[in-house]
Amino acid sequence: MSIKRFSFGKIIDCNSVVKEIEKENGQVPYFLEKDSVLSFKLEKEDLVYGLGENVRGINKRGWIFESYCSDDPNHAQDKKSLYGAHNFIIIHGENRSFGVFIDTPSKVKFDIGYSEIDTLSIEVEENNYDLYIIEGTNLNEISKEFRELIGKSYVPPKWAFGYQQSRWSYATEKEVREIGRKFREKNIPIDCIYLDIDYMEKFKNFTINYESFPNFDQMVKDMKEDGIRLIPIIDAGCKIENGYDVYEEGIKKGYYCLDKEGNPFVAAVWPGKVHFPDFLNSEARLWFGKKYKFLVDKGIDGFWNDMNEPAIFYSEEGLNKAYKIVEESKNKNLDIYSFFALKDAFMGLSNSSSDYNSFYHNMDGKIIKHNDVHNLFGHNMTRAAAEGLDSIDKDKRFLLFSRASSIGMHRYGGIWTGDNTSLWEHLEMNVKMMPNLNMCGYLYTGADTGGFGGNCTPDLMTRWFQFSIFTPLFRNHSAMGTRNQEPFAFGEKSEKILKNLIEFRYGLVPYIYSEYMKAVINNDIMFKPLSFEYNDVTSREIEDQILMGDSLMLTPIIKQNGRGRYVYLPEDMLMIRAKGLNDISYKVFSKGHHYINVELEEFIFFVRKDKMILLGESAKNVQSIENKELNIIAFVEEKAIYELYNDDGISKDYLNGIFDKLRIEIIKGKEEFNINVDGNIKDKKLNITIISKGSKDVKKVYYI
Ligand code: GLC
Repeated sequence: MSIKRFSFGKIIDCNSVVKEIEKENGQVPYFLEKDSVLSFKLEKEDLVYGLGENVRGINKRGWIFESYCSDDPNHAQDKKSLYGAHNFIIIHGENRSFGVFIDTPSKVKFDIGYSEIDTLSIEVEENNYDLYIIEGTNLNEISKEFRELIGKSYVPPKWAFGYQQSRWSYATEKEVREIGRKFREKNIPIDCIYLDIDYMEKFKNFTINYESFPNFDQMVKDMKEDGIRLIPIIDAGCKIENGYDVYEEGIKKGYYCLDKEGNPFVAAVWPGKVHFPDFLNSEARLWFGKKYKFLVDKGIDGFWNDMNEPAIFYSEEGLNKAYKIVEESKNKNLDIYSFFALKDAFMGLSNSSSDYNSFYHNMDGKIIKHNDVHNLFGHNMTRAAAEGLDSIDKDKRFLLFSRASSIGMHRYGGIWTGDNTSLWEHLEMNVKMMPNLNMCGYLYTGADTGGFGGNCTPDLMTRWFQFSIFTPLFRNHSAMGTRNQEPFAFGEKSEKILKNLIEFRYGLVPYIYSEYMKAVINNDIMFKPLSFEYNDVTSREIEDQILMGDSLMLTPIIKQNGRGRYVYLPEDMLMIRAKGLNDISYKVFSKGHHYINVELEEFIFFVRKDKMILLGESAKNVQSIENKELNIIAFVEEKAIYELYNDDGISKDYLNGIFDKLRIEIIKGKEEFNINVDGNIKDKKLNITIISKGSKDVKKVYYI
């Protein structure tokens, strides 16, 4: 195991690493350097993992990616960037594997077999970066070493592992209460409802629209008493408006980003004209972070930070240029050139590079052009929130996640994968993105289940739920103007299926939470490509099956009208077929290829050999789960061990080693199975079902 660090140019502290590594002199191993481009010859068998939030497969070979936080809702295969800049890759060959991390705030191009099929080249826009080469004997080791370098992942409260309902927007207090009431009336478990931009007064951060939310504080209280937490959105831009305290304070203290002339930079987003807080300035960061107290004091326990790439609808300069083109075009016979110039003047207004090149940060004394540190903006907005929340209550875990991110932000919060669409392709992309996000430190993550844009269909929703019940962030979110997506929005038949799935999720909470916390503590990843554990050729290639935690292999159905799927088993495994917590069956399948029928209302996943899965019970929310009984299904050929982690779910005591561990060991003997249970979880009943190839199932009940 080793990490080597090479430095190029003048380095800006990106706040990505937590471990100081001595600089190396001399040649970067593996790579050839020419004209500031690093290149590497890929062998036929090499796989390239990483790059976190991006389009296409788990193996990134065959495309060109650019690390540049981008607000682009069209997540098509021809895109090079999404909202995150995650400059970490692992090259996994047959004879050698290593990781590469480019620590830089500026744009990086990863050409992975795009220009030349067998060449990986890395080009950093500014010659201003640290390059780390991470070597290890296997993929798990490399990924762990990288995580040790960048620090421990954020830990949300345990209730954030429950089901979360969102929509842009539940725009009035009445509507929010009504959604909560419906869930409770229909006995569908739920932990959170989201408040999108309409809860604010004229889209101003840290304000309430009391016209549509007349009793905001009481609503938060009532709903919390009913076990539902409300999670408001916070946007990066702050409205320019006299009398608005955030605007006035920021101006007075000089906390906003500046334009060329040294005046606060003006961009436009939801409220019209805004200023951007200078999140790269430590005082401004502290100031903004403390503003979250306005909502915390109203009983709010979690936030989502949005539009922090930062998204810009237009700038005054851009708009004036466009108006000028309109003026010049009036009464003219527009030909191919002039017509497209007119069209592009408006099409190119948003998120334009000329705007990103026209404002500045004051990085504690150093004045830096935004574009040179673009990828650090959303990262530092979320850092501001995390540090602010920490200063408000240092012992409490808040829910916090962001849209934009870069390496290192995973210490402060999670991410959601932005504005996807209700497309089968986007369900597939969600599956494939999970391992790469995990490799880059993002454990608390998930997609807008059902898709944000577009109209979801009942079957897509069902299949998407069947996957999202396994992801730490399980949030159903959809955009204005699209079909409603609540579990009861697709008719009675689908409602029943979706309710069963949400209940199943609550049954999975002990396992998901345990795997999450162990991954945080040990710097492991929860979602892995098969090749992390199996080294055969097929396992290296498969992308629509992924490992989840210590015990499971997920095999979601991601095709429209799919009533079954091919599954490849690198070893004998136990298939679980379920419709809900009360309708589960299992069967051992031998190593190899199988076609398995799976009806729409059911889903399958696999317990690996010598592993076990634990299922608890459902409840109206995570806090109400009692789990007096845990059902354990184990597939044991020799010996299976599982360590179930649990803690109070809300404090940071786990940092001082205060948590429970329940260790279950099942050993196959000549005559029978020996079971050892060790732990300090009181008054629990364990229903253990042991399945072994060729022998009869064994059922045991244990009390602790
Ligand atoms: C952005 C977010 C989306 C949100 C919308 C309105 O598009 O990505 O989730 O609903 O803004 O706030």
